[in-house]
Amino acid sequence: MSKFPEYRMRRLRRTPALRRMVRETEVDVGDLILPLFVVPGEGVRRPVGSMPGVAQTSVDELLRDATEAYELGIPAVLLFGIPATKDELGSSGYADDGVVQEAVRALKRELPELVVITDVCLCEYTSHGHCGMIRGGMVDNDETLELLARQALSHARAGADIVAPSDMMDGRVGVIRRALDAEGFTDVAILAYSAKFASVFYGPFREAAESAPQFGDRRSYQMDPANVEEALREVRLDVEEGADILMVKPALPYLDVLYRVRQATGYPVFAYQVSGEYAAIMAAGERGWLDADAAMREALTAIKRAGANMIITYWAREFAKGLGGRG
Ligand code: PBG
Repeated sequence: MSKFPEYRMRRLRRTPALRRMVRETEVDVGDLILPLFVVPGEGVRRPVGSMPGVAQTSVDELLRDATEAYELGIPAVLLFGIPATKDELGSSGYADDGVVQEAVRALKRELPELVVITDVCLCEYTSHGHCGMIRGGMVDNDETLELLARQALSHARAGADIVAPSDMMDGRVGVIRRALDAEGFTDVAILAYSAKFASVFYGPFREAAESAPQFGDRRSYQMDPANVEEALREVRLDVEEGADILMVKPALPYLDVLYRVRQATGYPVFAYQVSGEYAAIMAAGERGWLDADAAMREALTAIKRAGANMIITYWAREFAKGLGGRG
C-alpha cells in the first residue's frame, strides 16, 4: 500500500459523485420494515406522545398508512395489536377476530404483495403486561409456549407471511414451527427475536402498545445488555429450532452484537431500531440540538454497515421520501 504524500484519502472525498462511487453501504427503501399499531374501532388515529409521527390506528386508517408505505417502496410492515380487553392469559391475542388478525386480513385483501409480519407476544394482551402467563409471581415459560403457538397460528390463518415471536420464552421457535407445520402453514416463516435485550430503549413503545409490565420488569426473560456470547447461544438455539430469520434488538446500541451474529450465521439478520432510539433522535431534533433527519439516516446506515439485511424502523416512510438527504 502506498502512503502519503503519494496516497491521499481525501482524493475520493472531493465531490458528492466521487463519494457516492466509493460508498460501501447504501440503505435502500427495500431494506426497511414499518411497524404499525392497530386498535379496535373505525376512523381512529391516536398519536403516540413520545413517538412523533407514530399513531395507534384502527384497521381502516392502518390501510392508508400501509398503502402509503407500499407505494413508497417499503416491502413489509410489522403489526402490533392493542386489544379492547386484556386478561390474565392474553386471550384476545389469539382470538381469530382479534385486532391484528382483522388487520392482517384487510392488508392481504387490499395489498396482497405487501409482506405482513406479526408480533407474537402476550404483553399487549395481558392485564399484567408481561410477555407470558404468570404462575407464582413469575412468567411461566412452558405454560406460555402453547399460548404463543395459538397466537402464531391465528396470525397464519389470517394470512400473515411471517410471524415474529418477541416474547423470549425458551423453546418457542420450535413449538411455533411445529404448530404451523401441523396445520399446513409450512410456508409461513419465523422471524425470531433471537437476541432481544432487556432495554430501557423500549420505553416509548410501551406507551404506544400499552404494554408496560404492571409489576417487576422483563429481566427474567429478556437478555442482559452486558452479554454478547449469550446472544450467540440464543441465535444458535433459534436456528436449531427452525427460525428462518434472526433479529437483534435494539439496533444502534448493539451494533457489536449485530456484527457478531452476522458473522456467525449464514442466515438473514434483521435489526430493530426501537422506539427509544427513534424518540431520542426525534426529541433532540425538536429541541434543535441536532438534525433529526440526518441523524436518522446516519443511524440506519450504521445499522446496515454492521450487518443488518433489513431494518425495522418507525422512520421508514420518511426515509423513503428522501428526508435527510443522500449524503
Ligand atoms: C413485545 C415487544 C416490545 C417491543 C417489540 N415487541 C416491547 C418489550 O419487549 O417490552 C419493543 C419495540 C420498540 O421499543 O420499538 N414484547
